[in-house]
Amino acid sequence: MAPTQPVRSEPPAGTPIVCRRARSPGERADHLAARQQVFVDEQAIFSESDTDSHDQDASTIALLGYWHGVFAGTVRLFVLDRAAGHWQGDRLAVLPPYRSCGLGAPLVRCAVGTAAALGGRRMTAHIQPAQVAFFRRLGWTEVGETEIYAGLVHQAMGITLPDQEQGTATVRRLAEGISARDLSRH
Ligand SMILES: CC(C)(COP(=O)(O)OP(=O)(O)OC[C@H]1O[C@@H](n2cnc3c(N)ncnc32)[C@H](O)[C@@H]1OP(=O)(O)O)[C@@H](O)C(=O)NCCC(=O)NCCS
Repeated sequence: MAPTQPVRSEPPAGTPIVCRRARSPGERADHLAARQQVFVDEQAIFSESDTDSHDQDASTIALLGYWHGVFAGTVRLFVLDRAAGHWQGDRLAVLPPYRSCGLGAPLVRCAVGTAAALGGRRMTAHIQPAQVAFFRRLGWTEVGETEIYAGLVHQAMGITLPDQEQGTATVRRLAEGISARDLSRH
């Protein structure tokens, strides 16, 4: 019998960025802790906790981002309307020391790819005004006027998801890891 491949716990050399689904209670705790640090402690958008009913729903997906093997950011996504293929992404957070390292963009692309791989057709999000340009650069467009979300002004933005095959390929590439050189292609 052929020897089984060893399980790789670290990203391969030369691929500093890995984005993938949370796989364990500990990784889920990392996801929640990053949200608490960014949306409660740093931005004070929520006073005590940013968790809500979506976190109790087993179908909600938490994605984790790693920078050189270190957990550094996260994003959450869930279905709004399964028949319509409509997903929402939210709670995108890169921890302060890792900002502008190129992790936020692949996390958004991983959310888009994940929803597409699961048959989604469209994703929307409530975007802070300061991040609208960041999302535009990733192919998102404004939907309507600004709105109040979590008590603050946000801009609804959306993106048409790629087909299932392309979404699956993006998810696989980001889970295997990408190098800075590859960023523009993901
Ligand atoms: C928004 C956020 C996720 C961006 O993550 P990041 O890891 O710093 O982003 P990246 O390094 O992937 O940036 C990708 C590109 O977008 C640019 N960019 C980053 N933030 C931007 C912004 N607010 N406006 C315009 N461009 C931006 C970067 O300069 C970079 O450009 P480059 O490829 O030419 O170098 C991060 O700043 C964050 O977590 N902020 C706090 C939480 C938050 O506001 N979440 C979003 C709620 S809507």
